[in-house]
Amino acid sequence: MSSLMATYGRLPMTVARGEGLRLWDTEGREYLDALTGIAVCALGHAHPDVANAVASQANTLVHSSNLYHIPEQERLGTELCELANMDKVFFANSGAEANEACIKLARLHGHKRGIEAPQIIVFENAFHGRTMATLSATGNEKIKVGFGPMVEGFVRVPYDDVAAVAEMIASRNDIAAVMVEPIQGEGGVHIPSDDFLPGIRTLCDEHNLLMIVDEIQAGMGRTGHWFAHQSSGITPDVMAVAKALGNGMPIGGCLARGHAAELMQPGSHGSTFGGNPLACSAALAVISTMKRDQLPARAEALGKRMVEGFKASLHNQPGVVDIRGRGMMMGIELDRDCPELMSIAMDQGLLLNVTAGRVIRLLPPYIMSDEDADLIVERVVSMVTDFLAQHEAQPA
Ligand SMILES: Cc1ncc(COP(=O)(O)O)c(C=O)c1O
Repeated sequence: MSSLMATYGRLPMTVARGEGLRLWDTEGREYLDALTGIAVCALGHAHPDVANAVASQANTLVHSSNLYHIPEQERLGTELCELANMDKVFFANSGAEANEACIKLARLHGHKRGIEAPQIIVFENAFHGRTMATLSATGNEKIKVGFGPMVEGFVRVPYDDVAAVAEMIASRNDIAAVMVEPIQGEGGVHIPSDDFLPGIRTLCDEHNLLMIVDEIQAGMGRTGHWFAHQSSGITPDVMAVAKALGNGMPIGGCLARGHAAELMQPGSHGSTFGGNPLACSAALAVISTMKRDQLPARAEALGKRMVEGFKASLHNQPGVVDIRGRGMMMGIELDRDCPELMSIAMDQGLLLNVTAGRVIRLLPPYIMSDEDADLIVERVVSMVTDFLAQHEAQPA
């Protein structure tokens, strides 16, 4: 009997070590890790730059306190603000916590405008985390079961539908912000149309709302830009990052600009661990390595290569509904549920996952060779082809 709460239905495998794209289990079996701990190890496993930064910082100072100045945190804040065109950062320890800070900014903004109970527009199929407020912002009803009552203050509209956002704003006088993923990850790797984020930006400007972009999964160079929203040419007021920022060291950040960056005051918000020297040193190493090796561009090129590979072999295959992706964020949607593909892939030496029931999701590291990218494509194509031949289609 495990001593752990049963929050995860774990696959029967224990990872012993990793290097680059590859992981080895305790039996010595090798895996290509096309999931990277769900969009975390973008530089692959045991990257020497990150390992050395962490070791060196651990030998100097792991933790002090936000009661004092933390130079690594200041440096990381400056780097992130430059990359994202933002003014200020609050550091947290996870994606959900970064989003909590975004939600608190939206409420401060609403109250400043005189709104008694400010509401945030969120989207169907959105995923923002598992804390009570971020769970309430999340669109997946299944993961809310048993946890009610939800936190108030969220109203929901369909994703990729600017008109629905406009209607919601017009129908009430208590909206303070819009919170959106630039690409929905957990919801099934949905890439919105080009006018979606600019449309939200315009509405937020017209109605004095904060535009909050959740870059936790799609950000940090994954899509070819440092942050996925940058491909639409807009700048949000508030943005959340986490996951790949620390390449495995837990760290998240809420960034803000202009008026939104001035909303927090001493005592408004905090975190014991948030932005400690160890996590910030890892994140500084991640950013300098990504810059030096031009990894956002590499992520984009690898993604194009892999999506072309998938399309070449699976495009016309009955059972494959859609193949989509941007950079190192890819989804292959089938016409039937396929959660078992996670363990089938694992048995074939490949780690990936299935989200939204029938979307095979890949979030590989940006440091792969072309040959390794092709190897992943080959394994996925043969697995999907076999699976479709053996399993009946189901109605959507
Ligand atoms: C878009 C998005 N937001 C928030 C989160 C929550 O991040 P964390 O699990 O670090 O709390 C995730 C995690 O999958 C995510 O994909």
